[in-house]
Amino acid sequence: MDWGLKNRLSRIIKPDGRTVMLAVDHGYFLGPTTGLEDAVKTIRPLLPYADALMPTRGIVRTSVDPSSETPIVLRVSGGNSILDEDLSFEGLTVAMEDAIRLNVSAVALSIYVGSANQKETLLNLTKLIDEGHRVGMPVLAVTAVGKSMGRDARYLALACRIAAELGAHFVKTYYCEGFEQVVKTCPVPLVMAGGKKLPEAEALELTYKAIKRGAAGVDMGRNIFQSEAPVAMIKAVRAVVHENATPKQAYDLFLSLKGSAKAKKGKLKGVTASTADLGRH
Ligand code: R5P
Repeated sequence: MDWGLKNRLSRIIKPDGRTVMLAVDHGYFLGPTTGLEDAVKTIRPLLPYADALMPTRGIVRTSVDPSSETPIVLRVSGGNSILDEDLSFEGLTVAMEDAIRLNVSAVALSIYVGSANQKETLLNLTKLIDEGHRVGMPVLAVTAVGKSMGRDARYLALACRIAAELGAHFVKTYYCEGFEQVVKTCPVPLVMAGGKKLPEAEALELTYKAIKRGAAGVDMGRNIFQSEAPVAMIKAVRAVVHENATPKQAYDLFLSLKGSAKAKKGKLKGVTASTADLGRH
């Protein structure tokens, strides 16, 4: 692996071999997703706690502070929308030149193994990897599952292994029963996708299981930014990923951080109220 590519990858996957990526790319096919309607407001407080941010280029340019040091993993596939019956018809949406202009640390695209568009998405992956090698840009393959596709270990191991065989530098996939098999048979780092919003305790349990079974971290979106206390939640996820916290320790941390955030908010409200009261006199 070339130095530049290794250097970029090491900004995302930290020296402990782990990463907490914050996925905010949902809008590329879902439009204004709950919690991301105002992307600036959602991203700003979470950015300091993310090892990497995964947005689209539109969100990078409109909603991410350019002075931020958080590495960007740029979503570069799309062309589909939630209105499609078959989501697999994705193509490349960003030229490598623009990814470099944005100074990103990696690019990400979805592959749809077993779908009507399998071949095209896999060839998009190889094209991106070839371009990535030319300029030292790592590629994250996202093993997407269509509306009607399963998420069992056999399928996910197949999709992850194909992505790695074709040259992906890291892979994102879902948690499943037998996840350790998926990890074991994938020769590149594997990050767990968060999936739909769960109660915080369950999402932390899922994170713990994925890490215990060999994941290099998470690329989590809704379970963080749709939480009632997103900053507390990302800190709790970090505790599991980077400090090997148990689900209970992480959930206790979440509750205590959520409590102090609430108390702080209450205090600030008090200050505002008393300032307003002063103004009346
Ligand atoms: C998946 O293909 C996209 O990258 C999603 O936008 C991302 O995985 C969503 O993250 P989560 O499922 O944790 O909300």
